[in-house]
Amino acid sequence: MIKKIGIIGLGNVGEAVIRSLKDSSRLISRKASLRLEVKGVCDVRKDKKRIASKYRIPFTTKPSSLINDPDIDIIVELIGGIGPAHNIVIAALKKGKHVVTANKALLASHGKDIFSLAQAKKREVGFEASVCAAIPLIKSISKGLVGCEVKALYGILNGTTNYILDKMTKERIDFNCALAQVQNKGFAEKNPTLDIEGIDSLHKLCILSYLCFGVWPPLKKVYAEGISRISLLDILYAQELNYRIKLLAIAKKQRDKIDLRVHPTLLAAEHLFSDTSSAYNAVYLNTYPAGELLFYGEGAGGVPTSSSVISDIVSIALNEKGLLRKEEKVSLCDMRDVKMRYYMRIMALDRPGVLAKISKILSTYNISIASVTQKERDIHKFVPIVMITHEAREDDVCKALSQIDKLSVIKSPSQKIRIEDL
Ligand code: HSE
Repeated sequence: MIKKIGIIGLGNVGEAVIRSLKDSSRLISRKASLRLEVKGVCDVRKDKKRIASKYRIPFTTKPSSLINDPDIDIIVELIGGIGPAHNIVIAALKKGKHVVTANKALLASHGKDIFSLAQAKKREVGFEASVCAAIPLIKSISKGLVGCEVKALYGILNGTTNYILDKMTKERIDFNCALAQVQNKGFAEKNPTLDIEGIDSLHKLCILSYLCFGVWPPLKKVYAEGISRISLLDILYAQELNYRIKLLAIAKKQRDKIDLRVHPTLLAAEHLFSDTSSAYNAVYLNTYPAGELLFYGEGAGGVPTSSSVISDIVSIALNEKGLLRKEEKVSLCDMRDVKMRYYMRIMALDRPGVLAKISKILSTYNISIASVTQKERDIHKFVPIVMITHEAREDDVCKALSQIDKLSVIKSPSQKIRIEDL
């Protein structure tokens, strides 16, 4: 059987898909009795023609040439972003094509409509590459765990930020220096803000929320905080306290609500996630009846991502049906009410009575201190006071810290990092 494909977008992933398809064509035909032919490739950047020429594939700058080509069965959308990608996916489905996409931003904001249209048109949308690059997580959750209820999910879903935190920890360098190094590696999104501010993880968490709980959460309703405020100081103090800092995406089912959030998190140094290095991703699922599961693999980069794109192309070519779930009416927990333990770093003057002032405010907000350390000694200067709290309510912690920051003995905004006991 021969299936014809049109690829739109020749960035890192697009080029890697063409190369990997060529490299794995014999393997695919042996395993699946299938021949995949790239009938055409498209990129609005004319200079990308050199990639097409290298593989002797017809090139166009117009997506419509591929979408309207009656020979093409599957459109692979790899341009990323929302506007034009949305138009391409909708037009392709309307034209009766199957679609494969790696576009998490698009699915997080328009997934509901795209899947409804695909269902109406009896076409498939493959999106394995949208979450955790090479890890076959989407198929594992939707098919492998079809009879399982997911109770909780914790994920390191962004390779770029994991690489930055890993570099800061191992090389003792600051955030900007680590960011500059990973930007050269080609993992970061075109706009690195998406990675750094936790938005890319948020997009992936929304897709997983749909797969695990049948809920497409409104993006604005899910709390997302990135790593740009994590300083080397925090990484070193966390290490002293036997923790590591990771950017986690969290989803927990709580009776009739789900707790969804993305933020930097202190994890026990012994936890397997703490060893997730460079651009690797890791996902932990707590399910019934499958129990606890851990997925680990390359989470960014063109070549690893191409594996998931090819997997979707082959599944669609073999007429496998994706399992879409019905939406469920579950509301989201209000972040202000979530209770956790916290790490706090407060930059205060080293004078008698300062700690008393801080602890008075904490007690007003019902925040109980588990440990406190003053990291340096200098009676003329501001010094870091590092605290770990017992479980406290998010809103109380925010209010207490904002009040503490108004004290004249405080130098700069205090840091808080949430702690998860996985
Ligand atoms: N920028 C993403 C990451 C790449 O760093 O994980 C794949 O989604």
